[in-house]
Amino acid sequence: MEVIIQPIPEAATAIALRAVADLLRKKPNAVLGLATGSTPLLLYNALTAMDLDWSKVTTFNLDEYVGIPAADSCSYHSFMWQNLFSKVNIRRKNVHIPDGMTNDIPGHCEQYERRIRDAGGIDLQILGIGREGHIGFNEPGSSLASRTRIKTLTERTRKENARFFKAPATVPLHVITMGIRTIMEARVCMLLAFGAKKSRAIAAALEGPITSMSPASILQMHPRAKACLDTLAASRLKHLEYYRSVYDHKPKWQKAEIF
Ligand code: F6R
Repeated sequence: MEVIIQPIPEAATAIALRAVADLLRKKPNAVLGLATGSTPLLLYNALTAMDLDWSKVTTFNLDEYVGIPAADSCSYHSFMWQNLFSKVNIRRKNVHIPDGMTNDIPGHCEQYERRIRDAGGIDLQILGIGREGHIGFNEPGSSLASRTRIKTLTERTRKENARFFKAPATVPLHVITMGIRTIMEARVCMLLAFGAKKSRAIAAALEGPITSMSPASILQMHPRAKACLDTLAASRLKHLEYYRSVYDHKPKWQKAEIF
């Protein structure tokens, strides 16, 4: 995995921003995998300020809460439309977010997988990381071969995400999330993490053993995974200076080229 460490979240986000912009310019009908939460907000803000054509772009979001209607302000549908989709010229029919209100969860999950395949697969998957190492909502213990399915959130994740809800007790217990194998099939994975509170999860994922106890650690097996971190999120990495030196000494052409 390539580890890119920048002093502040804005600088780390700029790497992902360049990747998305390059992809959309080179491949107007690109397929993006998107995350929600605080981490990608800087990226989405910056993307809406750019003059990019989203008219042929297709997106697949990682996850959605079960039992929360799309129109609810706490849904990830609302989050995505508010922070990105309403501000770019994407076509509604090209946006895919799991339906938390479906009455056939297994059937819906199978269809979600089929839609990703029919779209030609995901070119670039943007990921955040949970404090216990989840990607999407694949909590510790998730099968590393999993596909889109229902998952139960840990109490820690529910507490973390309570900030988006009116009361902690209203955070759903269940979610629909892309699986780990689904994520791993993306051609490029970009993991973003900022702040000291992510440093343990980042150290475990990047330098620890590959284990379902740290679901993000599976990215070590991805041929084109990049972690874009700020200094605080990177602070527990043992090989910090090596990663910095690798990035600083990369040939110019290689640094510029993601797609
Ligand atoms: C959300 C998702 C999660 C978040 C993770 C970090 O779609 O996939 O894995 O990326 O929980 O959340 P934040 O960015 O809020 O710290």
